[in-house]
Amino acid sequence: MQQWFAEAEAARRVEDFSLEAAGLFLDFSKNRITFETFALLMKLAEEAGVTQRRDAMFAGEHINTTEDRAALHVALRALPDAPFKVDGASVMPGIADVLQRMRDFTARVHSGTWTGFDGQSITDIVNIGIGGSDLGPRMVCRALAHLADPQGPRMHFVSNVDGTELAETLVRLDPARTLVIVCSKTFTTLETMANACSMRDWFLRNGAAESQLARHFVAVSTNREAVVKFGIDPANMFEFWDWIGGRFSLWSSVGLSIALAVGFDAFEDLLRGGRAMDDHFRTAPLAQNMPVVMGMLGIWYRNFFGMPTSCMAPYSTSLELFPAFLQQLEMESNGKSVQLNGDPAHVDTAPVVWGTAGTNGQHAYFQMIHQGSQIVPVDFVAPLVPPRDLPGHHAKLLANCFAQAEALMRGRSAEELRAASVTDESRVPHMVFEGNRPSNTLLMEDLTPHVLGALIALYEHRTFVQGVVWNINSFDQWGVELGKILARPIERELTGQGTATHDASTAALIARARGVLGRG
Ligand code: F6P
Repeated sequence: MQQWFAEAEAARRVEDFSLEAAGLFLDFSKNRITFETFALLMKLAEEAGVTQRRDAMFAGEHINTTEDRAALHVALRALPDAPFKVDGASVMPGIADVLQRMRDFTARVHSGTWTGFDGQSITDIVNIGIGGSDLGPRMVCRALAHLADPQGPRMHFVSNVDGTELAETLVRLDPARTLVIVCSKTFTTLETMANACSMRDWFLRNGAAESQLARHFVAVSTNREAVVKFGIDPANMFEFWDWIGGRFSLWSSVGLSIALAVGFDAFEDLLRGGRAMDDHFRTAPLAQNMPVVMGMLGIWYRNFFGMPTSCMAPYSTSLELFPAFLQQLEMESNGKSVQLNGDPAHVDTAPVVWGTAGTNGQHAYFQMIHQGSQIVPVDFVAPLVPPRDLPGHHAKLLANCFAQAEALMRGRSAEELRAASVTDESRVPHMVFEGNRPSNTLLMEDLTPHVLGALIALYEHRTFVQGVVWNINSFDQWGVELGKILARPIERELTGQGTATHDASTAALIARARGVLGRG
């Protein structure tokens, strides 16, 4: 790369290896690719069937083969007259109906006409959910916090079954003015149901009568029966459908917390941004298709260089939860080692995804990214106009973002160090940066809901493209099941309600925990 950027036609490289779509600008020139590599990667995408599988997804085919379902999250952000169908029936009327109900409900909460058990308006909303029912809406609410009405309701997210999280949230809440969204596709998830039950007890202990709980609980789910069984009025249930995967669900009623936090208009703008990226993904030629290009660059590093991880570095505190969101999106989708037909995968699949908001990462792990023995491709993401700023801060932030990508690419040689008067020769090898380390830089003007929608959809489609090339099903998650099953008997043992057989290590851990828990 150092050589390519030293050549006279370097500006052409930047021009040819840049793309613009849906309000996002991608500079992918700082990658280890020649024009020939790039053409071959696009050929690989073509031969792997990216175009056909993309079209099958948009056509509502059951591309989630192991669960025999469509994966049609793109319909959620489509225009009302779009032709999306699942099993022959249009999904659009159902989507429009739920959106209208979300709009009405948001207006009632914001206007103060939705009241708690003693007639007061709502000041705090708690979204109880986990995984896709938490990470997406939590990340978006954080990213768009600058748009929230300071007088509007405060949003809280509780996901972990560790009682600490809920207990620490509850101390900040007034039960008479708190609304709970129980958000769960299945409405059976252990963590979510435990937290929802504890919240119900909290209301009952703090002034609400059983008959008044309907004022404090709404549900987001596909499972009406379980919602009713829990005691939530089905009139207060916001439906979604089994053809939406949890990690792709923030565009559905799972986004109710987003609408409540930043307003329904902003939520709709997020949907429009997602749609703009969908249109680009569906229509742009592969070599100008941002999700395809980014997906294939990921394949290049994962499979041709064997790089085991990739780093997401948003230079924006507002986007600080984006790496965590991406971890579920990429690692739950593509952390598989079996191909669609059940044969073992021949190649490595999802890399470990990690990262933190810049510049914090620079003072923690960037040492390793610059000089470590593993090469880590980095995605730098930055809004050019900050959501909020103080004089002088944003130029420093952006300068650091661009400088990191520059340093990774160009490095610093021993000769440069000596020329810069480093006289202690014993230090020189420690101070050399080999450079030639790859990164993408993704820029947006402002962090609007629209551009955030496009950014999320970009990474969704990038994940999909990689799944196609690896020939795996990106839409199931069987790998999360076994641990859940094994936890049930262990919980019974820990609470003295049973015994089971375990390996020696697990048995000893249970015995140790029981010893402490038994002390009361
Ligand atoms: O355990 C993994 C998972 O199934 C995720 O795929 C999902 O997003 C999360 O649990 C939560 O599931 P639910 O929305 O059904 O509570």
